Amino acid sequence: MPVAGDTALHHVAELGVILVAAGRGERLGASEPKAFVELGGASLLTHGIRTVTSLPHPGQLVLVVPDGHAGEALALADELVPEGLLWQVSVVPGGRERHESVRFGLDALHDTIRTVLVHDAARPLTPASVFERVLNRVHQTGEAVVPGVPVADTLKQIDANGTVVSTVDRASLIAVQTPQGFTLEGLAAAHESAQARATVSDVAGAPTDDAEVVQRFGGTVHTVAGDPLAHKVTTQADLVMLEGTLLHAEANGFAPRSGRHSATPQGRAAK
Ligand code: CTP
Ligand code: MG
Repeated sequence: MPVAGDTALHHVAELGVILVAAGRGERLGASEPKAFVELGGASLLTHGIRTVTSLPHPGQLVLVVPDGHAGEALALADELVPEGLLWQVSVVPGGRERHESVRFGLDALHDTIRTVLVHDAARPLTPASVFERVLNRVHQTGEAVVPGVPVADTLKQIDANGTVVSTVDRASLIAVQTPQGFTLEGLAAAHESAQARATVSDVAGAPTDDAEVVQRFGGTVHTVAGDPLAHKVTTQADLVMLEGTLLHAEANGFAPRSGRHSATPQGRAAK
């Protein structure tokens, strides 16, 4: 496994962040994988690396990238996360499904890691405050935590012909985002069990997020407030929308990324 910034850890990191960036981005339809597509002059992966490494905790960031893109990701990590900071970056290739990519990310975590956040590179403007909220709640509860936002649209249940059957009560629904937080022990056990089951036959289909992996394993999943800025880039329309958000934020003198640190950041270790 190639490792960037491969020096002795200056801090004992107990926090691991797995940034899953190995998807193909088929619905976006760009010529390169989604994580390497640019938003406001920086790739989605760059946005994610900057935000995670702005968190004032010693940590290990694992970038899970498409096959053939490890070199590019390592170069990016070297450029954005100089040695001697609080964060150490590792790069591993991803799998065919998201849950497989997460598992490869888990395998790359150091022995010191106790808490893990799993985040989609496809949510490039997620504020650092969402990471902190999730992390605090994991520390409080020792259980799984997901950020969520209220559902704005009216929701209808439909039949096979597209005819409306009923209106769904929105009050009890949220749209779930990332980062999702877990104890490493809890998430690793749930993934191992899911993998063992998948070799038999998984009638429920592939889990679409990590909280579902934990829930199927019998774990409790708590929620904290998410943020509209954590919106996921799925299609070109999402990219256009977030481009507009970024321009608006810059024109009004604030960056969505509250912790955008540069050359001599606070809260980072001296060499
Ligand atoms: N992901 C991953 N490995 C996979 C599939 C997805 O690491 N095998 C990551 C993506 O890179 C993304 C996140 O999981 O950051 C959410 O997935 P999604 O939005 O579906 O991205 P893609 O799978 O790349 O897009 P598409 O489904 O349109 O191909
Ligand atoms: Mg996908």
